[in-house]
Amino acid sequence: VLMDVREESLKRAVAGIEKSLAKLAEKGKISEDPKTIAARIETVTSMESLKNCDVVIEAINEDENLKKSIFQTLDRVLPDHAIIATNTSSLPITRLAAYTERPERFIGMHFMNPVPLMSLLEIIRGHCTSDGTYSSVKSLSEKMGKTPVCVHDYPGFVVNRVLIPMINEAFFTLMEGVASVEDIDSAMKLGANHPMGPLALADFIGLDTCLAIMEVLHDGLGDSKYRPCPLLKKYVDAGLLGRKSGAGVYKY
Ligand code: CAA
Repeated sequence: VLMDVREESLKRAVAGIEKSLAKLAEKGKISEDPKTIAARIETVTSMESLKNCDVVIEAINEDENLKKSIFQTLDRVLPDHAIIATNTSSLPITRLAAYTERPERFIGMHFMNPVPLMSLLEIIRGHCTSDGTYSSVKSLSEKMGKTPVCVHDYPGFVVNRVLIPMINEAFFTLMEGVASVEDIDSAMKLGANHPMGPLALADFIGLDTCLAIMEVLHDGLGDSKYRPCPLLKKYVDAGLLGRKSGAGVYKY
């Protein structure tokens, strides 16, 4: 059951899923007919329609007030046994859980982009998340074909704690004129065997998202080594947000 308040967003989402399924079928990565898979997806525009769900994964943008109101509605609508998971990449699971009356059945499920191709799922346990909730979500993620890792609730979790400072350092390297955009990306692709260079990856993730995560690390851990690079801030101020805005470090 896929829920969004806007019909057009649901249509776009289903079209994206169909395109992704067609690609996976073409490559022989799935054996079931994409149409049969897509036909199992029910789209709804109201949260009341989620009342028979056992697990709900919230994946709205990182707006804490909006998330809070969604969690409070879900808490009222869902059956008592249901688990609420959030796909946040930067907000503390423990604080989000406290907006509900079921913090022991609240957990983080952080998917990586592009979700259909990336096998990792970070499962983040909040302070009150129960062992039962963790093991249910772990087996659910394995059924989804993902490889889960168990992470405790600290700023940036694991992937963003390590990845985003690397991207931030690539911006410092560019700002200081150490090398060109192309040479920084080639260096990391060929020198560290990364599938994408850090600046191309920043455009892929979104420069505003990278900046927001650096700010979460800087605020949450209080160490100056996490200060966001001024050049990254300048790109965001200029509205150069990466692929989604048509230009970032590169033009699309
Ligand atoms: N569904 C299905 N197929 C897809 C797809 C999707 N959503 N997206 C791309 N593909 C297909 C492509 O169309 C392509 O097909 P063809 O070979 O037929 O053209 C195929 O997958 C592979 O793509 P590429 O040829 O570009 O091959 P690649 O080996 O470069 O793989 C990649 C692409 C998986 C994106 C790879 O470049 C990669 O791993 N990049 C790094 C991604 C990464 O680091 N993600 C984490 C971001 S951080 C994050 O998500 C957390 C956060 O909170 C910010």
